[in-house]
Amino acid sequence: MLIQLLYSSKATSALSPADLTAILDKSVANNQASQITGLLLYRDGCFLQLLEGEAGVVDAAFRRISRDPRHHQVESLFYNECKQREFAQWYMGFHVPQPAALAKFPQFAPVFDPEFDVSQLVVTPQDGLAMLKVFAELPG
Ligand SMILES: Cc1cc2nc3c(=O)[nH]c(=O)nc-3n(C[C@H](O)[C@H](O)[C@H](O)COP(=O)(O)O)c2cc1C
Repeated sequence: MLIQLLYSSKATSALSPADLTAILDKSVANNQASQITGLLLYRDGCFLQLLEGEAGVVDAAFRRISRDPRHHQVESLFYNECKQREFAQWYMGFHVPQPAALAKFPQFAPVFDPEFDVSQLVVTPQDGLAMLKVFAELPG
């Protein structure tokens, strides 16, 4: 069964470009091996990541990612079965969303406010997916 999982989290401490590159390099290598695709957004110390793949494989990856001390306040936002991959081109795409792009998704923009308590967010999978797909279309 193919699933999509979306979560948000906050960086534990300030991450340098080199720190982010290290996370991405490891992610791409692991995800390619386990056929996980998706997208990672990072801004102002806040992460939003979509993982898609076989349920058991994604579950195991998410358990490992959740324990990573480089971030905390890991909140699963949705977990849904899907018919086909929507981020098949990336073992892990990465974007730093700009304010103008975030403004188009008022329901999701607060995720990237370091002060925002994500548990207050009313999240619908459609809105989250719509936002991620916009970033997926942008050049790397
Ligand atoms: C925000 C964030 C996103 C991550 N995304 C992934 C991912 O998509 N796939 C992955 O394998 N590891 C990801 N990691 C890294 C894992 O937490 C973990 O360090 C790594 O999978 C361990 O790999 P290893 O056992 O091969 O050393 C992520 C870490 C962070 C902080």
